[in-house]
Amino acid sequence: MKAAVLHEVGGVPRYEDYPDPVAGEGEVLIDVRAVAVENVDKAFAAGTHYASGEFIAHLPVIPAFDGIGALPDGTLVGFGNPRLPYGALAERTVVPAGAFVPIPEGVDPAVATVLGTAITGMSIKTAAGFVPGETVLVQGATGVAGRLAVKVARLLGAGRIVATGRDDEQLREVLALGADTVINTVVPDEALAGAFAEAKGDGYDVVVDFLWGRPTEILLRSLVPESFAFPKPTRVIQIGESAGAELGLAAGSLRTSGVEIYGAAKGLGPEVMGEAYGQIVKWAQSGELTFDLERVPLSDIETAWRRTDLKGRRLVVLP
Ligand SMILES: NC(=O)c1ccc[n+]([C@@H]2O[C@H](COP(=O)([O-])OP(=O)(O)OC[C@H]3O[C@@H](n4cnc5c(N)ncnc54)[C@H](OP(=O)(O)O)[C@@H]3O)[C@@H](O)[C@H]2O)c1
Repeated sequence: MKAAVLHEVGGVPRYEDYPDPVAGEGEVLIDVRAVAVENVDKAFAAGTHYASGEFIAHLPVIPAFDGIGALPDGTLVGFGNPRLPYGALAERTVVPAGAFVPIPEGVDPAVATVLGTAITGMSIKTAAGFVPGETVLVQGATGVAGRLAVKVARLLGAGRIVATGRDDEQLREVLALGADTVINTVVPDEALAGAFAEAKGDGYDVVVDFLWGRPTEILLRSLVPESFAFPKPTRVIQIGESAGAELGLAAGSLRTSGVEIYGAAKGLGPEVMGEAYGQIVKWAQSGELTFDLERVPLSDIETAWRRTDLKGRRLVVLP
């Protein structure tokens, strides 16, 4: 079969022949139809992800851990957890029996690759217990997940949406997607703290954080009240770390601010996940939740892997 094959840590996968996978006991073969290339795949290939050790141990290895494909009986599924060295970026892969969910009829496989990313936006509800009318801040709103979170917040009935990014042109697009106010984080620290304070109105109820690092450190500092007051709770959902894996958290940032910090996985279980996914699929099918995709053939993987010009569009590889 043809596959995208990574030969060395930090390298770029090459389109080449690779032995076909053979399903062992308790495994099933997948005929791959569409795979989104995400930051996490590049972090594994670069060896910079905390869990990349096992992946690298299988070089030469096929990247990507999930995608959309067909079971041997033709059923279209979203699959995950392929057995290394097989990954999703290939014509075929092999996964444990049960490591897949059916894709509803009529959903385009390329579109289906992005629906999982949209679920990160649903953490507003599943992790933070959002109720309609609340104010939502999306940190890192110009990326694929951030743009989807803005749209999901709007669809869930947010009262106000504040969104951050580092590029004015893209932030104008985020306003068009449904944000009420945008903040460019590429300003001195004090100016950024002031912008967070000015945009918060009665206060941020929920923060969807794809950034961590400097912007979120400044945000947390800006939530400390300037005088004695009963704090208004702000529920921060940690999802991504595009701006940094760590931040400095002063004791005072928590003591009086009313901030609560959760991981995006809080509240998730099979039932909640199923409901969230079902809602996302409904919005996608009704046309209420749209997003930009760029489809490329697997044979173009070398060029596609190096792309840095996507600006909120998801790159989807079609084997
Ligand atoms: N995709 C998923 O399903 C998923 C699931 C869980 C967690 N995550 C995590 O969520 C984050 C965003 O994922 P994504 O798929 O939306 O990626 P993406 O499309 O590449 O977007 C990345 C976002 O982070 C911003 N950014 C990148 N480097 C930055 C920096 N140094 N300082 C400030 N902002 C920076 C980008 O701004 P520009 O637009 O200006 O470049 C963009 O808004 C990642 O950390 C990812 O690992 C994603």
